[in-house]
Amino acid sequence: MPLISTRTSRPTDEQEIIEICHLTGDLKIDPYLLALRWCLDYLWHEPENCFVAERCDLEKVVGYIVGTLDTRQQEQRLLSIMLPKARDHWRKLSPKTFSQWRGYLNMRGSFRNTVGSLITEYPAHLHINVHPDFQRTGIGSRLFEAYENNLIQNSVKGYHLGVAGNNQTGISFYEKQGLSKLSQYPRFGKPSVIYYGRKLD
Ligand SMILES: CC(C)(COP(=O)(O)OP(=O)(O)OC[C@H]1O[C@@H](n2cnc3c(N)ncnc32)[C@H](O)[C@@H]1OP(=O)(O)O)[C@@H](O)C(=O)NCCC(=O)NCCS
Repeated sequence: MPLISTRTSRPTDEQEIIEICHLTGDLKIDPYLLALRWCLDYLWHEPENCFVAERCDLEKVVGYIVGTLDTRQQEQRLLSIMLPKARDHWRKLSPKTFSQWRGYLNMRGSFRNTVGSLITEYPAHLHINVHPDFQRTGIGSRLFEAYENNLIQNSVKGYHLGVAGNNQTGISFYEKQGLSKLSQYPRFGKPSVIYYGRKLD
């Protein structure tokens, strides 16, 4: 197993993060479109709150956590900056792709509207993904430690995350990290989403 180190993100990590996001996600859509929704906002606007795990021998990113300290502010950015970019990007793709993923692009209907009180108590949130070749080797746990330490240094009172109810790997990982299950919401035609979180104060 090569030596792995963790560090805060840099702009040059972007392409490797997009690839890992695509490799580990359920949605097999255009990688850049996927990243506009799930990674790039954090990397562009809060790089100091994002962390990568890197293979020391190759300087290759093998896992990441992207996150925000303030979910409400980040949602505003999604709507005002990232959604228009996602639409522009879509226009370069085929109309078939768009009709298939129109709902996905419609961030205005964000599920977080239903979890407003949760955001007050747990204002930060994150997304974590580790390259399939490096999963279950402790990288996710190390990224989590770096992420949490940063929140504590920034006096953030808590964080949350959402995981699909059929993602047994993610659920097992978050429970192993000692996170509390906060709520669960059914979604029409899809697995429910489960929110986990931790208070830090
Ligand atoms: C979830 C994920 C981030 C965890 O990172 P990781 O580096 O694999 O995790 P670690 O090695 O630090 O921790 C291992 C723990 O995670 C869970 N886990 C990791 N891979 C697993 C797998 N294939 N099957 C079941 N549990 C798994 C287990 O709880 C495991 O503990 P155990 O080995 O004692 O049973 C990573 O597996 C991943 O990227 N998965 C695919 C994408 C994903 O589900 N992301 C979360 C979306 S909300």
